[in-house]
Amino acid sequence: MCGIVGAVSNRPVCDILVDGLQRLEYRGYDSAGVTILDGAGSASCVKRQGKVGILASALADTQFNGTTGIAHTRWATHGAPSERNAHPHQSGERFFVVHNGIIENHDDLRDALVRDGYVFSSDTDTEVIVHLIHQLSPHYADLRSTVQAVTQKLQGAYGMVVADSQSPDELVVSRSGSPIVIGYGENEHFIASDPLALLPVTRRFSVLEEGDSAHVTREAVRVFDVSGVEVIRAANDFDMKSDASDKAGYKHYMLKEIFEQPEAIRRTLEGRVQSGAVSADAFGAGSQALFSQVKHIQIVACGTSYNAGMVARHWIEQHVGISCSVEIASEFRYRQSFVHDGSLLVTLSQSGETADTLAALRLAQSLNYLASLTICNVVTSSLVRESDFVYLMKAGPEIGVASTKAFTVQLTALLMLCVAVCQAKQTNQTFRDEAVEALLQLPESIQQALTLAEPIKSLADKFADKHHALFLGRGDQYPIAMEGALKLKEISYIHAEAYAAGELKHGPLALVDADMPVVVVAPNNELLDKLKSNIEEVRARGSVMYVFADSDDHFESEPGLDVVNMAHANHLITPILFSIPLQFLSYYVALVKGTDVDQPRNLAKSVTVE
Ligand code: M6R
Repeated sequence: MCGIVGAVSNRPVCDILVDGLQRLEYRGYDSAGVTILDGAGSASCVKRQGKVGILASALADTQFNGTTGIAHTRWATHGAPSERNAHPHQSGERFFVVHNGIIENHDDLRDALVRDGYVFSSDTDTEVIVHLIHQLSPHYADLRSTVQAVTQKLQGAYGMVVADSQSPDELVVSRSGSPIVIGYGENEHFIASDPLALLPVTRRFSVLEEGDSAHVTREAVRVFDVSGVEVIRAANDFDMKSDASDKAGYKHYMLKEIFEQPEAIRRTLEGRVQSGAVSADAFGAGSQALFSQVKHIQIVACGTSYNAGMVARHWIEQHVGISCSVEIASEFRYRQSFVHDGSLLVTLSQSGETADTLAALRLAQSLNYLASLTICNVVTSSLVRESDFVYLMKAGPEIGVASTKAFTVQLTALLMLCVAVCQAKQTNQTFRDEAVEALLQLPESIQQALTLAEPIKSLADKFADKHHALFLGRGDQYPIAMEGALKLKEISYIHAEAYAAGELKHGPLALVDADMPVVVVAPNNELLDKLKSNIEEVRARGSVMYVFADSDDHFESEPGLDVVNMAHANHLITPILFSIPLQFLSYYVALVKGTDVDQPRNLAKSVTVE
């Protein structure tokens, strides 16, 4: 959460910083700010409440020639979203800091600083950092050692960049729990919380490890590990187009990302599913040997990624024939769970930086798991760097806060995982053959599902004035109903809940009336007859229903019942396919309601605080 950009260059950096913030805005959009050092001992700091565009307008009429600067877009944790709480924070006119994360002991530090005469001008936890730098700087030889000393006093998580107006040719960076990359240019260097911010100016990055700090000048980058020893963090070329974060003519990132799904799935399958099998190294070198020993799979994730895990549980238990548990990371990390013999820990995460999922992985590393595997979309992320085995999703950047293509690519990867484990154990050849065929068919089937955009658009008006909605599914479609409900509430702010359809009459049926639309995911599978009975129970209570059905389900639209037919597909991939119309539904309802689709209120894309 929050986005950081910094630059030490030989050219004016203001536009580079603001452009970087705009590319990072998906990480937080409550307020934004920039500090530019003028090179002569002064600094200009401009901050605005609201989106980066508001900051950009405020900067438009002033020419800033400074070649060193830092910038930030905020997702509020401590202190309301306001100009007063926007970063950079400063101590006097000299030190400036931008910070991602949470300083947990900020109250104690603030009290001590106030006793020492410091006056605070924000309600943030961050401001203690910059006053501490000011306070300790006379006692240390340079800015880097001052920052290192300050970090010894901090508890919590941070990725931060510090600027000193009296030393305009350097920036100091430090990370613990919040990602930071360094970008390499010609006689210039950059800093960001995500490489995406810097793609117009460089493709060459190194990633700081936990506890690292760095001294960044135009000419050089020196990195120090947690104990202060200078280390090398290799710089690598990053294979991503600079326009990867453009909307490509779509009205919203979310819509673009929905339509990117066939391509994203093709990319994830490429070179990994071939010759009737999942390739031996698809989940990393040595994964086949590991999978042959696995007796239990523990999946840990948050939000949409958790919903993907819930689908996988059905596949793993039914087709691989081993037990699987799925847990929300924020619960897993704070309870003493039972580690089954021969357990593999699988984390699912688009960003690879979700604080709870990362903490769950770190906890699991101290427990008796065989190994950890992450299915993740971001190559530079902490989960990727800290897991034993990695499946890189290759979905391409997902910018819309509401996850779409990451979900369907996660499901694709999880189905491949089932095949890979069966291969390693030499079991269930029938499932393996069927799954591989269905996976190869998937991009085309998704392409077909995308043609539902128009019919679903016409349903959206019927939801726009509703305050609540129920989503129903059974079996491996129950998590798809959960995902549909999450999407709807996230971007349209309509309260939506998902239920396993058989659970309705145990309570939620009391809510059903003409004002409570009920959405049902109903592929033609062995549970369809049960589901049909549940649908009748709801209809008898006067509800308005929307059924996403298999074309051979034989549902007919009639008053109070809208049916959207999906092309029939192999049952193994129907959870993936049925998530597409639900993505469209939430998108078009949000359009009708006029909410901010890509940056819904109160949310941010990457949840790097717990
Ligand atoms: O990056 P992750 O997959 O770890 O993120 C987990 C959740 O924060 C994320 O899926 C969130 O629920 C999405 N906004 C849902 O659309």
